[in-house]
Amino acid sequence: MKQWILPNLSLDLSHLWTHPGGPRLTGEEGALSQRVWKAFRHRSVTEEIGFFDLPETTPEAAPKEWAVTAHRLRSSFDGAIIVGIGGSYLGPQTLLESLRVATDQEDFPILWVTQPDPERIHILQRLALEKRYALVVISKSGNTTETLSAFFNLSQSVNAQGYLIITDPEKGALREMARREGWSTFSVPPDVGGRFSVLTSVGLFPAELAKISSQRILTGARRMREAILNSTPDECPAFWLALSHFRWDTEFRRNIHYLMPYRQTLKSLAEWHTQLFAESLGKIDRTGKAVGFTPVAALGPSDQHSILQMLRQGPRDKMVGFIDTPVKASTVVGMPSFSPGEAAYLTKTTFEQLNHLACRSTELSLQNGGMPTYRLALEGLSPEALGSAFFFFETVCALAGELYDVDAFGQPGVEEGKRLLKEALI
Ligand code: PA5
Repeated sequence: MKQWILPNLSLDLSHLWTHPGGPRLTGEEGALSQRVWKAFRHRSVTEEIGFFDLPETTPEAAPKEWAVTAHRLRSSFDGAIIVGIGGSYLGPQTLLESLRVATDQEDFPILWVTQPDPERIHILQRLALEKRYALVVISKSGNTTETLSAFFNLSQSVNAQGYLIITDPEKGALREMARREGWSTFSVPPDVGGRFSVLTSVGLFPAELAKISSQRILTGARRMREAILNSTPDECPAFWLALSHFRWDTEFRRNIHYLMPYRQTLKSLAEWHTQLFAESLGKIDRTGKAVGFTPVAALGPSDQHSILQMLRQGPRDKMVGFIDTPVKASTVVGMPSFSPGEAAYLTKTTFEQLNHLACRSTELSLQNGGMPTYRLALEGLSPEALGSAFFFFETVCALAGELYDVDAFGQPGVEEGKRLLKEALI
């Protein structure tokens, strides 16, 4: 049975491996897992790929430093505007969206600029003139045009005392400006790439700004790292999910992979996951072949009312991962102010239960239609669970990179686009 109880989450891949039209064990998985694992760990050292060791290498003092600066900004400003794109947005946005409580959103609004969108920038500029906002600018490279342009514009309305820059410790235009102007900064470890950076100051400082404990997020990631290291490669759940993606894609032409969380506040997690897998695996492999599956973010139950029909009966080129959420909390639907008639069965249910059952029913319905599915169930919507989930998916992605035989940590396509845009602007 391909099922695991892991720190803060559980994983069920059994349907992917018992499906009559899917992969069968070949007996080579043990050797393959060892080879893949060894290659990844070797690259971590020789090519300086730092994300896997972050829970151990993050300085003990870092969470305190993030918290102290967050406290300073919160006590001196009415809210914050954060500017960032791609990996400098999706990870922190997931943390804020899934863990931030409503009262804090009112007390200290945190607004994002993720696009050089004139209307949005105009609105934020006006808001920044009405209230005192801190301005957090996140860019690993420090050179991203969209981010710099929004920063330049918003800086006209925000006091420089409120700037906080998160970027590479040495390189990039942003670092150079921060050094020259004396702005407050946090560094992103140079060996951690943009889409793998959520467990650095990129994700963890915004978390502290929203009063979410970075320490607890790192604890979740550390526990997951230990669980992965304590499993033998051929029992490692991250290897098996990576192998599932790889074999369903390359052998069975199921090359569109949906991830569907069943909680609105986890929508960004699926979007973060899309960037992670798209940019890491969509590549030319070492033999010159274009590879990678297409990851797609969906949201249950709402997307059941838009894409489910196509998933159930449309082309057989997809697989679906579900993210189930706990049923512990209890917001009861309750009695309406009128007679519920034949829908009375609904009144005693909780919304948590409703989401959970919608997730399981949809999974069953898709399985009935022959769709390969898997399920990751979060134990709670806690900082630990998010830390654990981020770390797990990042490891899956890195191991999948070895199976696809690509460099999961470069992004030449993105870099080319950035270069061409810069040239067009000069
Ligand atoms: O994963 C990556 O490296 C990219 O997607 C980046 O996150 C994105 O391009 C933003 O780059 P930066 O953080 O340098 O502004």
